Amino acid sequence: LTDVTELLLSRIRDVPDYPVPGVTFKDITPLLADPVAFAALTDALADFSVRHGATKIVGLEARGFILGAPVALRAGLGFIPVRKAGKLPGATLRQSYDLEYGSAEIEVHAEDLAADDRVMVIDDVLATGGTAEASLELIRRSGAQVAGVAVLMELGFLEGRRKLVQALDGAPLEALITV
Ligand code: PRP
Ligand code: MG
Repeated sequence: LTDVTELLLSRIRDVPDYPVPGVTFKDITPLLADPVAFAALTDALADFSVRHGATKIVGLEARGFILGAPVALRAGLGFIPVRKAGKLPGATLRQSYDLEYGSAEIEVHAEDLAADDRVMVIDDVLATGGTAEASLELIRRSGAQVAGVAVLMELGFLEGRRKLVQALDGAPLEALITV
């Protein structure tokens, strides 16, 4: 493990039996509260975005907003929010995805993405991959290109990476930590 990876790992708190018994929640609030760790995370995600030629950063509500906004500023790129449905006032594209029980919908302002954009999706965690997959669908439907997906942490046992293969269509998926 690199020094940065060790630092990030040390600032993620395992919360047993949250939100339901048997599940261990990965709490990133200690990392956010440490400006050195938060800056290291921001730099790593911004480097990855620039290296892969991103022209826009998409953050996924809500925790992807906390990470994606500083990444966009650090990379010198515009930030575009992908929101849970019903929050954006303008004309939107909407995509549904499956949850453990039921489904949910996310939206983006249609005019925020253009055909000549290359979009990097930023989020905190890749779990089943449903949220990230839906965001990639929104980007493709907008006509923009997918530069990739970058997350702090991938939960490998849920096989989200496999779920994303088709939607990524060869674009990179970066996880700074895999557990
Ligand atoms: C969490 C997490 C990721 C998503 C990953 O968001 O922040 O966005 O789940 O799960 P998946 O890979 O199985 O789709 P969630 O919507 O629970 O809450 P948030 O609004 O706090 O980000
Ligand atoms: Mg989320």
